[in-house]
Amino acid sequence: MITETPISSEMFKQSMRLLAGGVCIVATNSNGEWHGLTMTAVCSLTMDPPSLIACVNRDAGAHGTMSATKRISVNVLTRDHTDLAELFSSSNIKGPQRFDNERWLEMASGVPALIDALAVLDCEVIQEMTVGQHSVFFCEVKNVRLQPSRKPLVHFNREFCAVQPVC
Ligand SMILES: Cc1cc2nc3c(=O)[nH]c(=O)nc-3n(C[C@H](O)[C@H](O)[C@H](O)COP(=O)(O)O)c2cc1C
Repeated sequence: MITETPISSEMFKQSMRLLAGGVCIVATNSNGEWHGLTMTAVCSLTMDPPSLIACVNRDAGAHGTMSATKRISVNVLTRDHTDLAELFSSSNIKGPQRFDNERWLEMASGVPALIDALAVLDCEVIQEMTVGQHSVFFCEVKNVRLQPSRKPLVHFNREFCAVQPVC
């Protein structure tokens, strides 16, 4: 028999840690100042129109700009980007200081794109919904830059991991 445990916030956190997630940096441009944060809560929504959702803590530094400009980039990280994943979730280094101009360029829409990302999705926010402490941003994907030969970075059980095929 499988044991089921009534949910506590700790159990919920533990459960979500077991859900492996691709690691992204979601970034924005606020009047020429770049902002961004590390995220795993990014998920494909529909094919037509091509769209995704991103779930962002309303206290995150980039949240206000995401809401106001309605333009974001989703930069899918490679296994060589653990330094960036840590930097963009750091409590010491914030805002534009996280961006090194040699690693980022500005897309035509104004959002920052990580030069050696696995993929960059240039998105327009079409709807925002508040749920608890988070906003769910519904985004339409307008442009993409792809470098699919690179290898992804995954977060699982509080560790950054690389993936490999099972067969
Ligand atoms: C692997 C990983 C995944 C994360 N995923 C999310 C996420 O999906 N949404 C979110 O709001 N914060 C997420 N965070 C936390 C933010 O990256 C972190 O709180 C960041 O410092 C917020 O930006 P700020 O410091 O500019 O406010 C994640 C952190 C890590 C390390």
